[in-house]
Parts: sequence; structure tokens; C-alpha cells
Amino acid sequence: MRKPEELRSHQWYGTEGLRSFSHRARTRQLGYLPEEHLGKPVIAILNTWSDINPCHVHLRDRAQAVKRGVWQAGGFPLEFPVSTLSETFQKPTPMLYRNLLSLETEELLRSYPVDGAVLMGGCDKSTPALLMGAASADLPAVFVPAGPMLPGHWRSEVLGSGTDMWKYWDDKRAGLIGDCEMSELESGLARSPGHCMTMGTASTLTAAAEALGVTVPGASSIPAVDSGHERMAAASGRRIVELVLQDRRPSHILTREAFEDAVTTVLGLGGSTNAVIHLIAMAGRAGVPLTLDDFDRIARTTPVLANIRPGGDRYLMEDFHFAGGLPGFLSRIPDLLHLDRPTVCHDTLREQIAGARVHDDDVIRPRDNPVAQEGGVAVLRGNLCPDGAVIKHIAAEPHLLAHTGPAVVFDDYRTMQRTIDDPALGITADSVLVLRNAGPKGGPGMPEYGMLPIPGHLLKQGVRDMVRISDSRMSGTSYGACVLHVAPESYVGGPLALVRTGDSITLDVEARTLRLHVDDEELEHRRARWTPPPARYERGYGVLYNGQITQADTGCDFEFLARRGEVPDPYAG
Ligand code: FES
Ligand code: MG
Repeated sequence: MRKPEELRSHQWYGTEGLRSFSHRARTRQLGYLPEEHLGKPVIAILNTWSDINPCHVHLRDRAQAVKRGVWQAGGFPLEFPVSTLSETFQKPTPMLYRNLLSLETEELLRSYPVDGAVLMGGCDKSTPALLMGAASADLPAVFVPAGPMLPGHWRSEVLGSGTDMWKYWDDKRAGLIGDCEMSELESGLARSPGHCMTMGTASTLTAAAEALGVTVPGASSIPAVDSGHERMAAASGRRIVELVLQDRRPSHILTREAFEDAVTTVLGLGGSTNAVIHLIAMAGRAGVPLTLDDFDRIARTTPVLANIRPGGDRYLMEDFHFAGGLPGFLSRIPDLLHLDRPTVCHDTLREQIAGARVHDDDVIRPRDNPVAQEGGVAVLRGNLCPDGAVIKHIAAEPHLLAHTGPAVVFDDYRTMQRTIDDPALGITADSVLVLRNAGPKGGPGMPEYGMLPIPGHLLKQGVRDMVRISDSRMSGTSYGACVLHVAPESYVGGPLALVRTGDSITLDVEARTLRLHVDDEELEHRRARWTPPPARYERGYGVLYNGQITQADTGCDFEFLARRGEVPDPYAG
């Protein structure tokens, strides 16, 4: 146990001299007596609450519960508002700002008198951003997941956010429903605060955070508006104080074993493809090597047990929670986990999941009745993606998983949107739709364009899936035979830049290959005539982003943030 004078904040508050005097005087100005804070662990509550972010709109209240827990355990809580990354509203995509929030997190923890942090987030990119920053700062940290929103409802249907939006939008385009139904759906799809309640990117990443061991047990699936969420927030506040006194830091928890278990979890949940990029980036910050090949290797021995939409056919996160949540899920796969590693609450994962049970075998399937025999994500290689690509094959129509067809190429998203329904393109159900300039630099930020729309005339014929290939990402709530994260991206001259309409392409998921049937000589000829697109930004953050962003296979971190190296102590000098 650390003594008060061993705390980092002691340098700010407890030493002789003018600076400490000034910090104490300013804390009086904040309204606190010396006995309320001196000698106590200072806990920063990093809150991504915002009026614009419906997934985090309850976090303003929830921070009060975290503070309650911190006070109860003898700490001194201070709330810090940090950027909000709203998947719905932020354009072109919050992925452009994930690394910015990670940078803000790291530098805020470093520059203020902070001994430990509670990180509050959950909407897609906020989870990796906060954890990347905390890993780089390496101060004790507990993550408070925002929690899923309540299940959607419309007439007699239970709706999944995202997933059912795409489905009903296609129904509208196919003429099956009209404006009146759409207006009702508008009020039914997302009916409470909280992040998407499908196994989308948010649920996948908060589950990954719990599997990594940076939340209190069972935290990730508690519905955002359940009273249990408030109790979990208070428990996290109590726990961070103990963690600071024990000096248990992210570097003790975010080990290679922890990341392997997070990969196993993501795959066994049938989780979002976005987790591939984010976990690689998070591991990079923790100094842990993690590659696409790790995902493919672990996928082959990890069954999908969570029957949650869109990978599963029926259930949503609230069902998962009451079926036992992540502890229940992990209790089904102990042989696939590293049970002797520490978490923020326990000395071993074994202790953490001891006693966990599954209460509904259809929601969290037993090993002898999985949703799929293998993990939901496959990593592809081939002359179209020399540095890899991914596909969530369990969310695709099986007949497309071995498919050869002629390419129909779109140079950018706007052109695709404008022309996809044009009969003159001659798109058939066998065509392979190719979208380029949608990658980390080209998008920019790899917007979630990867589930390209099915052309209207095919929708009317009942076609609901086609092979689609892009260097973009796909929403975790999306589905279909969509090859994503093609690396290197077309904007920097990856082979995707050289494909022409009519070229034949073969996707073979079993063989893990993606092949463009154009010989090397012809590709070299095309490459010689390829000109790089103009720079997207002349000034501002985009210039920093464009100069630093790495490709999808290495996690899309900024080069200067992913790098190893020392940062001077801010209090030195
Ligand atoms: Fe925030 Fe889906 S929009 S998690
Ligand atoms: Mg999403």
C-alpha cells in the first residue's frame, strides 16, 4: 500500500514552496477544506458526456455515482469533461478523432495532479480512445462502460439499433413499407440513453474492455438506464482508490495474455470487425505485439457462443446481460483463456469468473451447440490485399463465401451513392462491388461505408447480399459479405487502386484468400499510370492526421503515439 506522500499528486499539493501553496489555495477556491482532499488519492473522472451524444447522455448523472464511490473509499474525485465521439453525428466519422481523444486522455492525465482515473465511455471509438490514452499515461485506471440502450420496439417487433435501421431502410427502398411506418420506426429504434444494444462495435469493445480486466466484473452489459448501472459506477469509484493505493497500473493488466483473451472474447461473441483495428491499436500502446494473424489463428479455435444480433439471429444486449453477461460467457470458455492474469478487481481472472453462470442456453450457447463453430472474423490475403483484409463471415449469406464475379468499381462514396441504382452499370447479383478511396487516409478515417447498398432493382428481386470490397470499415451492426480494411488502402496506391470494372475477383473465405485475376505485368502497367489523389487537407487537424495515420493492419494509430519512448515528467523542472 502506498503512503500519501508517495502519491503523484503529493508533488502538487503536499510539498513546501510556492507552487504547492498555490495549488492548495486554488483548491480552497474550488470550495474544499484541506481535510477533504490533502493526502487522498486524486481521481480524475474522464467523462465523454455531451448533449449531442445519445449513447453517453446519461453519463453526466452517472459521474455523480462514481464520485460517491471515490469519496466512500477515501479518494478525492475531480470530473474532467473530454471530447465526445458520437458515432451517429460526427462526420465524416468519429474514427478521425479516436487518436485525438486518446491524446487528450494521455496528456490530461499527465499534466494534472492525478493519481488514477475512471474512464467513462462506450459509443464505439470512445472505448479504445480512452484506453489507449490510459495505457500510454500508465496511471491506474478503471473503465466505466456506458451500457447498452434498451431494446427497440415497433408494433410487435423487437428492434436492434443499427441492424434494423439498415433492414427497414432496404424495405423502404424495395417499396415494402412507406413513410408512415418509417416515422413510427424513428421513435422505436433507439428508445433510451445508452450505446447500441446489438453486438455492434460499442458492445464488442466494452466487452473487450471487461475481458482485458479494466472494468469491475459484469460491468459491460448492464443496460445504461438500469439502476445496476449506477451501482456499478459507484463500485468503480471505490475500486479506483484501492487500485491507486496498490499502484496497479495498466501496464500490469494490459499484457499479451489479456489481449489474447480480448481477441477470444470478441470472436466468441461474434463481435464487430472494428474491434480488429482497435485492439491492435490498444495493444500497440501497451507495448504488446498483436497482429491480424493472431485474430485468424484464435478464430479457428474459438466458437461463437453469443446469439446476439447481427451475428446471432435473435437476441440483444439486455438478453445477454440477464443470461449471465460477460462473466457467464467467459465461464463457458475457461480452457481458451489465460486465467492467471490480474484484473483491476482480482489477482487472477480465475477468481473474477469463479461462480459465474449462464442462465439461458439459447442466448449464451453451450459449447456443443454454438452459433458458429469458428470465430466470426476471417483474415484474407491475396494480391488485392497484400497486408490483409477482414470479413465477418458469420454475418454473410453462406453461398457468397466462395464466389467469383466481375468487379463494378466506384472511385468514391459519393459517386457510388449517386449511381448505384443506375441500370446502365449492369450490376447483377454475381457482381463484386468495389469501393475505393475510403481507407484511413482516403476516407478519411475509414468511414463505415463497407456495407455498400444493394442496387434497387436487385433488392426488388429479393437479393439481400452481395460480395462487396473496400478499404473502409463497416458498422458493427451491419451484415453481409463485405470484405473490409483492405490494406494498403487505394489512396496510397494499394492494389485496390488498380482494379477496373469487369476484372474478375475471387473471394474464398475457407482458403482465406481474395484474388484479382489480373496478371502482374498488367498490374504493373496500370500502376505506372496511376497518379496519387491530391492531399485532402491544406491546414488544421487533418494535416496532422494525414501525416501520422497508419494503415488498418497496424491499427490506424498515429505514428508518434504508437512509438515507444520516454516522456519527461511534467513536474520536473
Ligand atoms: Fe453510439 Fe451505436 S451510435 S454506439
Ligand atoms: Mg457503430
